[in-house]
Formats: sequence, structure tokens, C-alpha cells
Amino acid sequence: MKKIAFATHNNHKLEEIQSILKNMYHVMGLTELGITEEIPETADTLEGNAQMKADYLFDRLGIDCFADDTGLEVEALHGAPGVYSARYAGEHCSFSDNVEKILKELERIENRKAQFRTVICLILNGEKHFFEGIVTGELIKSSRGEKGFGYDPIFIPNGYSETFAEMPIDLKNEISHRGKATQKLIDFLAKFSGI
Ligand code: IMP
Repeated sequence: MKKIAFATHNNHKLEEIQSILKNMYHVMGLTELGITEEIPETADTLEGNAQMKADYLFDRLGIDCFADDTGLEVEALHGAPGVYSARYAGEHCSFSDNVEKILKELERIENRKAQFRTVICLILNGEKHFFEGIVTGELIKSSRGEKGFGYDPIFIPNGYSETFAEMPIDLKNEISHRGKATQKLIDFLAKFSGI
């Protein structure tokens, strides 16, 4: 079976994609690859970071690989926090610090439109391919729900009444930015492998 490397330590992300690609690829995460160092992600766009991480893996291993990067883009904040979503409230901040900061910034702002955007960079046979997934929605005024992570408790996707943190994880995965980008990657790999 063909091997493909995924620049993640997140077992949940890995299992999800491995279960879909199981007949086509053996997907190897950073733990299995023995890569323990932090992979640099210092670009100022999601595309740049996804590419930087994929390039790093390709340079190290020389095999097909992919990497993703995600951000929350808030319309009234001109797309912030975007690529800086993980560390919006500071270097070692928690998810709730980030949520608190964004709620404060939007305190007196009517426009609550926001979107999550994921970009995946795939390097296949030495060629780069990009896949994007977007989910649009609104940010509410205080957190609701215990599931998920990050900004999930304040984000309601358009067409729904629950936050990402209130809805079943399967439903979130089906409609989410990451779900959509991953589906595009999977469709591409399936077509490429002739399945
Ligand atoms: P990453 O690129 O997947 O590491 O995501 C960067 C940051 O974006 C995370 O640390 C979270 O703050 C936020 N984020 C990414 N995906 C989600 C999501 O599905 N829900 C809520 N926040 C997310």
C-alpha cells in the first residue's frame, strides 16, 4: 500500500482521514514518523503555513505528504484572527482566553459574520495541490456547549441554531471547514489512485 505523511500530532484528525483512505493509503502522522520537533509555521497566510509544513515533511522524508492550517476569519475584524487564531490572546493562551478576547473586541459590534477556513497543501509526486474548505456563520455573545475546541462555543454555522460546541461531532465534521477541505483532498486522491 502507498504511504502518505500527514503533518499532524492530532490522533483524532489522523484516524478520521485514515479511516476514509484505508484502501488507498497508509496515512502516517508525525508520531509514527518519529518527528518530534515543532514544524515551523511562520507564514502570514493559511496557504503559506500549509505549504511550509508540507515542504518541511517532503524535504525530510521525500515521500507524498500533506499539511493543513485553519483560521477563524471575522468580517468586522477584517479577517482577523485568521492565521493567528491559535495564539490570538498571546503565546501560551488557552482556547477560552482566545474566545474571551474576541468577544471583547466584538462587544459593541453588530456585524457578527465569521467563517472558518481550512487550507490543505498536498505534495504528490513532487507537485503541489491546494484544497480549501469554508464554513460561514455568526459569532454569538457568550459561549454555549462543551464539545469541540477552539472557537466552537461561540460559532453558529449558517442554517443551524446550535453552536459547533453543542452539535454532535459527526454533524460538525460533515459541514465543517476541515471536513470540506479533507473531502476535496480525499476525492482528489481517490481519483488519482483510480478508485
Ligand atoms: P489548526 O490549524 O487546526 O491548528 O487550527 C488553528 C487554530 O484555529 C486552533 O488553535 C483553534 O483556535 C482554531 N480552530 C481550528 N479549527 C477549529 C474548529 O474546528 N473549531 C474551532 N476552532 C478551530
